[in-house]
Amino acid sequence: MMDCLEGVFKRRSIRKFTEEPVYDKEIEILLNSAISAPSPHNEQPWEFLVLKEKALIEKLALKLKDEYIRSGKANEKKAEKSYSIIASAKVIIIGFLNTKKLKNDSYSEKIMGIQSLAAAAENVLISANCLGLGAHWRAIPLVRPDIFLDMFKIPNHFEPQWMILIGRPGESPKNKFLQKEGIFHFNEWA
Ligand SMILES: Cc1cc2nc3c(=O)[nH]c(=O)nc-3n(C[C@H](O)[C@H](O)[C@H](O)COP(=O)(O)O)c2cc1C
Repeated sequence: MMDCLEGVFKRRSIRKFTEEPVYDKEIEILLNSAISAPSPHNEQPWEFLVLKEKALIEKLALKLKDEYIRSGKANEKKAEKSYSIIASAKVIIIGFLNTKKLKNDSYSEKIMGIQSLAAAAENVLISANCLGLGAHWRAIPLVRPDIFLDMFKIPNHFEPQWMILIGRPGESPKNKFLQKEGIFHFNEWA
């Protein structure tokens, strides 16, 4: 188990996974991390779909590939690359906003619900890193909620926000540049 801050600072998106398994005990830690996130009024406006079966993960990857090509959003090569990354994940966690848990239907409550899901996602990513797993966030459930709601027969008041692909890391990304100049303002906006 790595140091807490190292878990934050060394987190990177991992898009290549080895064939090694991810264990149920690790999945449990990731899910507990997700639900440990803060939420407004502690309403915990989330539910999660966890895909562990290889055949199901491949089926989703194929469906997304077909949709990419059909919609004209990606050519065959790009869609194939996306397919192979998604299909190689050992676990996929999909985060849903349960709109029935929101305090009211105001804009701010909706955004706070979405922010809670984002906090849950980051907890999963950091915990995955702490466990020595690789993971990355994908936006496709937000962009094409219909695919996820249809495929898994999920009621419409659940709004898919993200999916996180998880496996054992098969790559070590290069250091990334962090913009630090001019973005922190202490005591005054200067
Ligand atoms: C809201 C959000 C959506 C993202 N969507 C995708 C995505 O659809 N596909 C992908 O490969 N990475 C996605 N990412 C990961 C970013 O590309 C990645 O975090 C960024 O390039 C910085 O790299 P790092 O995570 O290694 O620090 C997303 C990240 C966030 C926060």
